[in-house]
Amino acid sequence: MKKSAVIALLAALAVGMYSCSKSSDSTPATVSVVLPQTVHQYYADNTNNINEKATVGRVLFYDGHLSLNNAISCGSCHKQALAFADNVSLSTGYENRLTKRNSMPIQDLVASSGPHPFEKGMLTSAGGGSFLFWDGRENNVQNLIARPITNHVEMGISDMSVLPAKLSALPYYSKLFTDAYGTSEITKDKISECIAYFISSIKTGNSRYELSVIRKTVLTAQEQEGMLLFQNKFMCNSCHNSISFDTSSGGMNNGYTSMDFMDNGLDDSYTDMGQGTITGNATDNGKFKAPKLHNIALTAPYMHDGRYKTLDEVLEHYSHNIRNTPNLDIRLRDQANQPRNMNMTNDEKQAIIAFLNTLTDTKMITETSFSNPFRAN
Ligand code: HEC
Ligand code: HEC
Repeated sequence: MKKSAVIALLAALAVGMYSCSKSSDSTPATVSVVLPQTVHQYYADNTNNINEKATVGRVLFYDGHLSLNNAISCGSCHKQALAFADNVSLSTGYENRLTKRNSMPIQDLVASSGPHPFEKGMLTSAGGGSFLFWDGRENNVQNLIARPITNHVEMGISDMSVLPAKLSALPYYSKLFTDAYGTSEITKDKISECIAYFISSIKTGNSRYELSVIRKTVLTAQEQEGMLLFQNKFMCNSCHNSISFDTSSGGMNNGYTSMDFMDNGLDDSYTDMGQGTITGNATDNGKFKAPKLHNIALTAPYMHDGRYKTLDEVLEHYSHNIRNTPNLDIRLRDQANQPRNMNMTNDEKQAIIAFLNTLTDTKMITETSFSNPFRAN
């Protein structure tokens, strides 16, 4: 597979931009944008210039100008080194306002096996029925883009139609959009489309776990024990099923984030209704996406509100603290319909954590084509 490199270009394009990490009242720092000169091969089939579009999307993803005060980019809350999640319970958006929920990793938004729905220009759904956000309120990657941009907590822009003019005034978009669309004209649909192509290209697939399946490299005894506990004894896999152990299909199903929403018994009474907010059904209250556990070692703190700081605390929840909530999932109930607290031994916990660590994909988090093209001067 052809891998192209980002060539540093036109350093010191002083564009008067705030760096993402700066708060809104700080002095604007000048940055240079290292324009992606060579287009990365995000998709194997370049129908409709989708690689050029993903390249524009990469710059947009990291560009603070998508927020009202130029301070917040997608990358502020979705950090590559953390599998595009954040390391705080609630992230800081526009004017230091906090998000309502814990930031989520961006990975495997669409199926990675089989024909990629985007390669034929079919930018319609997240693919195969996966739903996005903790409560599943969106299943169209392109529509999703407008949410963080127009959400006042996150980026402070209430109407995306202000963005084309604002971005057109920046020196570096003209070439990028021309390469992608044959014209430098910027529209809000193009903005959404480009970001959608970029984020949909972010995929796992090179963790030690996968290598152990594909290349038959060997996991340690402790990691293997953790895998069996995860799969058999504690049946974590019955919900976190985006790691499939079906050896007939090559040992894994690396496709989707998740399409299932469940209540895993966090609190006696619900403060965040989760999926119930979207469907209006009381039986969906307290249900959240059971996340794909790839890169889980990088995405602390955990759960939709970031309540647990460590994987140890997560396992303690499943060990002793599952609450008897109204919608507690049947898979976490015993035969008497009571919470199935798992009473893990310390060795079992350590083995499961060792296994979860094998799901870290160091390639994804260091891949240049996903990295921030802006450099502070
Ligand atoms: C201020 C922080 C913040 C910013 C800025 C932000 N996000 Fe998010 N993102 C979040 C939070 C928090 C969630 C979870 C929200 C929820 O479920 O209610 C999330 C969820 C997502 C998801 C869902 C992932 C999944 O598996 O379901 C995607 C995709 C995403 N964001 C992409 C983006 C893009 C693209 C941008 C820029 C246009 C962006 N985000 C900007 C905080 C942020
Ligand atoms: C009944 C389904 C179910 C079972 C069984 C289950 N989980 Fe979960 N898990 C969930 C749901 C749903 C969430 C998200 C809950 C939330 O944030 O409100 C979650 C969250 C997590 C998280 C945090 C994810 C993140 O990104 O913050 C980890 C880690 C985790 N589970 C590991 C496990 C392990 C290990 C087991 C087995 C011991 C297990 N789970 C069993 C449904 C389940």
